[in-house]
Amino acid sequence: MKFFADTAVVAEIAELDRYGLLDGVTTNPSLIAKSGRDFKEVIAEICAMISGPVSAEVAAMQFDGMVAEGEHLARIAGNVVIKLPLTLDGLRACRHFSGKGIKTNVTLCFSANQALLAAKAGATYVSPFVGRLDDIAIDGMDLIRDIRQIYDNYGFATQILAASVRNANHVRWAALAGADVATVPASVIKGLASHVLTDKGLEQFARDWAATGQSIL
Ligand code: E4P
Repeated sequence: MKFFADTAVVAEIAELDRYGLLDGVTTNPSLIAKSGRDFKEVIAEICAMISGPVSAEVAAMQFDGMVAEGEHLARIAGNVVIKLPLTLDGLRACRHFSGKGIKTNVTLCFSANQALLAAKAGATYVSPFVGRLDDIAIDGMDLIRDIRQIYDNYGFATQILAASVRNANHVRWAALAGADVATVPASVIKGLASHVLTDKGLEQFARDWAATGQSIL
């Protein structure tokens, strides 16, 4: 499963990239607002830093506006992925961009039927929001499993990008359910490496090694 960083904070992306843990980045208008930075500047900076796909979301609600904004964003860098909402206009814009060979991420997906439409529109990625479904007591992972089965039934190439991932369980369950990608906050990605028994074992090894009085170099 690929990991995308779900952030618009450049320093977080740079850190994850150093660990070799990053396959791409997703942003959304809320994350851009939280960063307090200029949208297009941030996208350009991230795209210069990493070679993987970087999702940049249109703000327009109608087809013409989505196309104009998406074409503008696509000119920022070759690894920009145009993020479009799962509406009829968004699907139409998705078809427009996929026809031109421009990658797309159809976002705000909350049902298997919506995901079926995204695949039919030629989306590169579809983003089911598992955390926001959990927030209203619906199992987000059931949705990932349903989409996986539908896409496999028909051989759709659209990749399932588990989004609104909030914790380590979401990451594990998304991997078990067959998501192609999970977009995850930087703190959650780093937290996946932690285990209390790893820390305890390392402390013991350090103590025992010191007692030998040896050095490797
Ligand atoms: C990413 O593409 C989504 O916009 C993001 O994961 C949404 O996460 P949230 O539901 O925690 O805001």
